[in-house]
Amino acid sequence: MKVRAVVGLQWGDEGKGKVVDHYAASADFVVRCQGGANAGHTVWVDGRKMVGHLLPSGAFHPDPICVIGAGVVLDLESLCEEIDALNAVGLEVEKRLRVSRLAHLVLPYHKILDRGRDRLPSMGLPIGTTGRGIGPAYSDKMRRVGLRVGDLDRGESVVRSLLQARLEEMAPVMERQGMEYPDLEATLDLLLSLGNRLQPCFVDTGHLIREAIRTGRRVLFEGAQGTLLDIDHGTYPFVTSSTSSALGLGPGSGVPSRSIEHILGVVKAYATRVGEGPFPTEEKGAHGESLREKGKEFGATTGRPRRCGWLDLPALGYSVALNGIDALALTKIDVLGGQEGLKICVGYEDMSGNEIPFTPESHVLEEVIPIYEEMVGWPEQEVGSSELPEGALRYIERIESFVGVPVVFVGTGPDRNHSVLRHGGL
Ligand code: IMP
Repeated sequence: MKVRAVVGLQWGDEGKGKVVDHYAASADFVVRCQGGANAGHTVWVDGRKMVGHLLPSGAFHPDPICVIGAGVVLDLESLCEEIDALNAVGLEVEKRLRVSRLAHLVLPYHKILDRGRDRLPSMGLPIGTTGRGIGPAYSDKMRRVGLRVGDLDRGESVVRSLLQARLEEMAPVMERQGMEYPDLEATLDLLLSLGNRLQPCFVDTGHLIREAIRTGRRVLFEGAQGTLLDIDHGTYPFVTSSTSSALGLGPGSGVPSRSIEHILGVVKAYATRVGEGPFPTEEKGAHGESLREKGKEFGATTGRPRRCGWLDLPALGYSVALNGIDALALTKIDVLGGQEGLKICVGYEDMSGNEIPFTPESHVLEEVIPIYEEMVGWPEQEVGSSELPEGALRYIERIESFVGVPVVFVGTGPDRNHSVLRHGGL
């Protein structure tokens, strides 16, 4: 198969980076379709930790063309920092980077509005965003007032007037938030200089990828965040502002969705969530703490401790169906080795004991009571082990039988090579 996708099936942080990295080794193109610098893809290469935010994980290999599609919101400053960090370790990416001219820009005022958001009572419940300007940038896009990458070619006076209009509109909001707002000239200078540096990367990426597919090149689409953070199908309003399920890959890259031949879903062996929102299987006590410590569950983007809990099969079944998942990659099974009181959620009930199905509606999901199966645990294995203990196999088979999709890849440690392949592998 030449055209594949990898998406997250929970609330992000499933370990997609490692799986994408595996496929990227043999891909010609690796494509990001949505989200922005809110993402944090961690890949361990020869014991060295590499974190990407905007660049597709293909950047960690020397050859694939790395594409940032039209559906991404682009923070040029963050992108340049990432490129420079990779350069410093000998991975040259700028020459093989292609950025859509249609992608919207995340500007300094978006980040300020985002960080001030939860201070305004009129904004409703706090979300706990990453503060990377994602919501405000997508808001401008949908209101049809955003600046796009291609606008940077239109000359300084056009960019100045577009920017000025936005700053004038948003200055009173930033004032109400008690935030200091950025200077027009400083923002303009920054934007034009970064735009100038990256100018050779700005192209029609939709055409590029369609041609790549037409001519039989290997193309890998890389999802960011996870299905349950999807703006439409996730646990709204505790979601990100883009289509983070596989449904967003076509629109975010400019290819017909049916050209994607295989969709791999990534699921962590337990569940985590950063920020606010419903989490039926959350463990607030010792079990949660032990998963967090052992799984090193701290955000790659913000460093925040992640909320931790048991694997939620009804939620996973929903994500598998919504995305049309062909196969699963199960990550971090090693973290469950030696875990006391191992459980897996196989249904929900209400206060009266009536079984209820999974729903992404947050106010309903907040109230459900998980139904658990106790699982037989297994002793802690050596990190990166190439054998799966009996208990782990039973755990994996329970997942497969519940969601009806094979687990083809099992992560047993953080490094690139720490994995066991099943059913013929990836
Ligand atoms: P935003 O995407 O920064 O607007 O944040 C909205 C919600 O999505 C918050 O709960 C974030 O913690 C969460 N979120 C955004 N990006 C990621 C990610 O890459 N991994 C996990 N959670 C994320």
